[in-house]
Order: sequence, then C-alpha cells, then structure tokens
Amino acid sequence: MQDEMKPADRYALVGHPVEHSRSPLIHRLFARQVGHDLTYELIDASEEELEAAVRGFAAAGGKGMNVTVPHKEAVFRLADELGEAATTAQAVNTLSFSGSRIRGDNTDGLGFLRDLTRNKGQAVAGQRVLVLGAGGATRGVLGPLIAERPRELIVANRTLERAEQLARIFADRGLFKVCAFEELESLGAFDLLVNATSAGLKGEQPPFPGSLVGTQTFCYDLSYSLKGTPFVAWAEQHGAGRAVQGWGMLVEQAAESFRIWRGIMPDTAPILAQLEQLTA
Ligand code: ATR
Repeated sequence: MQDEMKPADRYALVGHPVEHSRSPLIHRLFARQVGHDLTYELIDASEEELEAAVRGFAAAGGKGMNVTVPHKEAVFRLADELGEAATTAQAVNTLSFSGSRIRGDNTDGLGFLRDLTRNKGQAVAGQRVLVLGAGGATRGVLGPLIAERPRELIVANRTLERAEQLARIFADRGLFKVCAFEELESLGAFDLLVNATSAGLKGEQPPFPGSLVGTQTFCYDLSYSLKGTPFVAWAEQHGAGRAVQGWGMLVEQAAESFRIWRGIMPDTAPILAQLEQLTA
C-alpha cells in the first residue's frame, strides 16, 4: 500500500535547446517496457542557469538527469564522483543524485559502439577508421573506439589545433593520428567514417573529399534529423556501402543511462524500430 502512494521517480533532460528532444519518449517507452513508474521532463537552461537547474532538480527530489548540448563539459565540473568514461571524455551526459551528491557518467561512447557493432553489425577491430570533428561529440566516442583496437584511427578537424589537443588528452589511451581537412584527399578510402562535426546541425555541408568513401565504407553520422542529414546524403552520393544517422546511438545511450538509474537494461530493438519508422 505504502509503495502505491509513492510518487513516480523524476528524471529530466537539461540542455539548450531541448524542446525537440526524443529523450522523454524513449525513457517513457523503456519505463513502460520494464513496468517502472517514472516521469521525464525537459529543462531548458542557459549556461548561467545550468548549476541552479541541476542542483534545484536534485533538491526537489529528482533522481537523475541527462545532459545535452551545450552543457556536457560544464556539468562535468559539478559532479562529486565520475564514472570512467566520463573521466576519459571529460564530459558527462548522465547525472545520478543521491542526497546532495552528484555522480556523472558518460554513456554516449558506449551507446555509439553498441549501435555500431551490435545493431548495425559493423566491426571496428582491425579496421581503418576516420573520425571527422574534434569537439564534444568526438571526445565521447574516442575512448570506446580506441578500446576496440582499430588498425588505424585518424581524427581530422577543420581546426587542427583542437584535434591535437584531443590527442594530448588521450595520449595514455592508445595512439591515434590527427590531420587537417586539407590532408584528407591523400588518405584514400576508409572502412568506417564517423561524422562528429556539428556542421549538419547548422545546415552546413562539411567539405570532405569523396575519395574517403568506397563501396565497402560504412558511414555513421552521430547527428540525426527527421529530414535526414547532409552527411548521410553526401555518403550515399559517393556510393558508400552503408550510411546511417545516429538514431541508434540516441536510443542506446538512453538505455545505458536507464540501466545506471534503474538497474535494468531495457530492450532497445523495438524502440529503435519505432523511431526509425518516423524517419522512413
Ligand atoms: P559537439 O559537442 O557537437 O561536438 P563542438 O564541441 O562545438 O560541438 O564541436 C563541433 C565540431 O564540429 C568541431 O570539430 C568543429 O570544427 P572546429 O573545431 O574547426 O570548429 C566542427 N564543425 C562545425 N561546423 C563545421 C563545418 N561547417 N565544417 C567542418 N567542421 C565543422
């Protein structure tokens, strides 16, 4: 009887902007699937409002939060305790509250890798891999990519200095090469191309040479959009073996956050199928 009176556990996504996020839908579907009672809200907060929004949600009894653009790095500094992936990425997308203590985890990299290797069946071990971009999204996926031991791993960025900074952060994790976009022309085709730039989100077409793409190349865009993304269109135009948007990563990182919070891993396949239907 007591339990039935207990209010539903509260979760939220904090970011800016957040209004078009699919996270509330995904977490509600997970909760329904495993029979848990929870709510999932959207909280729009500017940089100045972030700390008060996080601490306020925890103080009001919130159990956890997801964190999205542009706050993943800022929130890292609010955590009292960090998971390994968050420490490596120096960015947090999942907060768990117990009393006033804040734990930060990063499930983006694991979510990406699960979607890529399990859902899409694309290996990383022994492959030639090129990551385009050197911002927050790249930081999230590099740790898990390196751990898979690709034959070659290159991070290319418009601003070379940012890629070099990343190489310094990851120096003890294993080696990857960095290069500027101007050098891409000479590298030939890759087994796996990962677009981690935010160019598509801003409606910009990233200037990558078509020679990076062969008929066997798997192109993965970390971005996603109901209208499709410029990177996927570019990859298809150049004859890529397969080109996918990051819907699967979105669902898998959410599932891993759900597991951290609720102690149970939801089945992602039906939820991903439902989302992909929206974009078909
Ligand atoms: P995110 O958290 O989404 O990664 P970010 O940290 O601001 O966002 O990083 C954005 C990434 O997209 C950077 O690698 C950026 O390149 P620069 O470091 O040179 O700025 C890249 N980017 C953004 N717009 C781009 C464009 N039009 N062409 C190529 N790269 C672009």
